Amino acid sequence: MFERRIDDAVRLRTLREEDAEELFQVVDSNRAHLRQWLPWLDANTTPNDSVAFIQATLRQEAANQGFTCAILLQGHIIGVVGYHPIRWSNRSVEIEYWLARAAVGRGIMTQCCRLLVSYAFDGYGLNRVQIPAAVGNGRSRAIPERLGFKLEGTIRDAEWLYDHFVDHALYAMLKRGWVGEQQGGGYSPPAARPSKPTP
Ligand SMILES: CC(C)(COP(=O)(O)OP(=O)(O)OC[C@H]1O[C@@H](n2cnc3c(N)ncnc32)[C@H](O)[C@@H]1OP(=O)(O)O)[C@@H](O)C(=O)NCCC(=O)NCCS
Repeated sequence: MFERRIDDAVRLRTLREEDAEELFQVVDSNRAHLRQWLPWLDANTTPNDSVAFIQATLRQEAANQGFTCAILLQGHIIGVVGYHPIRWSNRSVEIEYWLARAAVGRGIMTQCCRLLVSYAFDGYGLNRVQIPAAVGNGRSRAIPERLGFKLEGTIRDAEWLYDHFVDHALYAMLKRGWVGEQQGGGYSPPAARPSKPTP
């Protein structure tokens, strides 16, 4: 089981079956917020669907394909972050994530992703981490950007969201480019961002 402390209030740990009811309640009370960018909301309508999701993540972890974590704030689930199945032949993986609306705007997901990127390189020994995000999903795109990922391009019609396709902006980090936790992963608080030079 993977478990890490992010700060005094927030920690990550592998999802377990007992989380299903609480996880479902968080999803259910954040439907509109999550549905804008995630494709699985209409297929998740009962706690049993959360059980099935968690079981799938546990099978994936047991097959050494990467794990999925609950994000806990003061012991309560506020989101999920995890790996898509690792592509061992290419030593490459993708990270996916979501947060309850009330937990957005505090830097929690950037810190969680920083930890999972470091673990992908140092724990699993991978070479490449991808974070794809819908082109219009500014909050999601800001995470790989804060972490110093390179925008490699746009994947057209990459994902079907209920009634329309969205293009994905594909971000990636290579092991040789990762400065990781030591240097804060490139995050500057908004107030400290340099202002744009005027022409
Ligand atoms: C994508 C999502 C997780 C982003 O959440 P988020 O809260 O914006 O991301 P973070 O937790 O990293 O927080 C960043 C915010 O906290 C601020 N912040 C404060 N302290 C910070 C710190 N130490 N480090 C980074 N950011 C910090 C940042 O300035 C930023 O706020 P701003 O956007 O107002 O400038 C969330 O919007 C979400 O779950 N959306 C719906 C599902 C979704 O889109 N999933 C991704 C699909 S690809």
